[in-house]
Order: sequence, then C-alpha cells, then structure tokens
Amino acid sequence: MIDEMSTTENKSVEITKGINGLDKVVLREINGSTAEVYLYGGHVTSWKNEHGEELLFVSSKSIFKPPKAIRGGIPICFPQFSNMGPLEAHGFARNRVWTIDTDPPPFPSNTTNRVFVDLLLKPTEDDLKIWPHSFEYRLRVTLGPGGDLMLTSRIRNTNTDGKPFSFTFAYHTYFSVSDISEVRVEGLETLDYLDNMKNRERYTEQGDAITFESEVDRIYLSTPTKIAILDHEKKRTFVIRKDGLPDAVVWNPWDKKAKAMADFGDDEYKHMLCVEAAAIEKPVTLKPGEEWKVRQELSAVPSSYCSGQLDPNKVLQSS
Ligand code: BG6
Repeated sequence: MIDEMSTTENKSVEITKGINGLDKVVLREINGSTAEVYLYGGHVTSWKNEHGEELLFVSSKSIFKPPKAIRGGIPICFPQFSNMGPLEAHGFARNRVWTIDTDPPPFPSNTTNRVFVDLLLKPTEDDLKIWPHSFEYRLRVTLGPGGDLMLTSRIRNTNTDGKPFSFTFAYHTYFSVSDISEVRVEGLETLDYLDNMKNRERYTEQGDAITFESEVDRIYLSTPTKIAILDHEKKRTFVIRKDGLPDAVVWNPWDKKAKAMADFGDDEYKHMLCVEAAAIEKPVTLKPGEEWKVRQELSAVPSSYCSGQLDPNKVLQSS
C-alpha cells in the first residue's frame, strides 16, 4: 500500500477520519501537493497543488452519507455507466465501502518516489444478487513528484462458474474551474459523440474547441489519449492523459439541472466541469481469470506553459 517514502514522521500516507466520520486516506507529496481518497466509493475528493489550491470540484451540498454517492471529486462508475443497463445509475462501486489493499499483486510500472494508496473492492452477497459476477477491483491512487494525480484500475473476473462478464466504466472527474463560460476543451474536435440529451443520438463535433453556454451531456467516442481543459480566467490548463479508455464524457448540468439536484448548489455549475475518461460505447468483456487495466493521469499546468501549443493537435502530439 505504501512505498518507501511513507513514514510516520512525514506522514506521506495517512489514514484518518473525514466528513461524518468516514475513513479517508490523505496523500502528501514532498512538493506540498496533496490528495484525499474516501474509502466510501474509493472516491478521490481532493487534489491540491503545491500552493494548496483545490483542483477538483466537490459540491458544498454533497451529503457524504451512504448510500448517496459523494457529489464531486472522482466517482468511480462501475460496473455500469449512467442508467444504460439494469443497475442503479453509474453502478454501485461509488457507493460501496472499499478496503485498503495491503498486499496487491505487483504493478509492472515503477512507482519509486511516489506516494500512493491501494484500494480493493469485492462484491458482497447483496451485490451478487444485483450483479451476479465475482470480481476484484484494485484501484491505486498515486501522487507523482510534480503533483500529478494518477488513478490505475485493475479489474479481474474471479467467477468460478466459467462465465464472462461485461461492464462499462468511467472516472467521473469533476474539475474545478473559475467560470465555465471562460473554459474550453481541446482534443475532441471533429469526433463523433452520443448526445445524452437527445436519446444518445450520434453527432459529429464541428469546428473549434468545445465551449459552454448551456447544458452539455455527451459521450465522445474513440478519443485521443490526451485531452486539455483550458481555464482562461485561472490561466490554468488541466491535461488528462488516459490509457485504455477510448471514450470521454463531457458534462455540465447548467442552471435548470443544477436546481433539480438536491446535493448540488444552484450556481455551482459555473465552477465545475466533468470530463470523464470512460469505456462506454463498447462494453468491456472479461473471461474468468482475465484482468482489465486502465489509467488516468491528471496534471494542472499554468496555461502559459502550453502557449504556442494551444492548437489542439499540437497539445495532443506533445508528450
Ligand atoms: C454524467 C452523465 O456522467 O453524470 C449525466 O453523463 C449525469 O447524464 C451525470 O446527469 C451525474 O450523474 P449522477 O448519477 O451522479 O447524478
């Protein structure tokens, strides 16, 4: 669970109590950046840079009380994205209590000098009644030396009845933005998307970067491995790098839907944007013993860092 950097003195990984006494893990990097992960949902609720600035949005109205999922941060949507299937919206992983995985199978990647925690979710007897498949879901949340936040998911089919299972998935990341009207998303131009507001009809994105002036709820298909969110007012660019996750959901509820959500402030839509690395259009199928491994890496850089690269193709081509 904890690499060699973790000592009780510097407390680079600390298990403590969060809101309503829920268990949470705090990760602290030497450069001052931090992340917080609730065991409830395996849910990242905070990611701060070295200046202590919060980079994720969490609603001030979020309830932090099971069975309601935490509103904001990074909910894990598994084994079903949205209501596209028999399960509750976005599946059940986001409202189950995960455990700390003290003995995960080794990761091939080098994690020396990184601060991380390993979490594990296995189905309970009750879960098996609503989704009759045994699985082990291992989530590693890592804070890199520069403050980057990495989520690695390993999902294994542990069925003993010889049956495969299929699922859809999303890292439902809520980014904190200064003013949604000043934000643009680059990397999704000219791609096809399914419009959740129009019965998932298929459209093709036209022209320029995506900007926001009303509700948006789309599943972009076959997206590149890198997507950028430019926050003009904050002069900050979020870069999402993803591996194994072909789709990307873009969601902002805007004013009417915001008012309709009990756990979301009426005006909070102005300060958030969800861009969700996902696998939705083509569900993932795993045979018994098979494992699916995917990754999302988030970084936040001053926009000037990207200057001259804001042409989306250039942003996406750079490392
Ligand atoms: C997004 C979906 O991923 O999540 C939206 O595309 C949905 O349709 C939103 O409204 C929030 O979902 P929930 O279940 O957390 O309210």
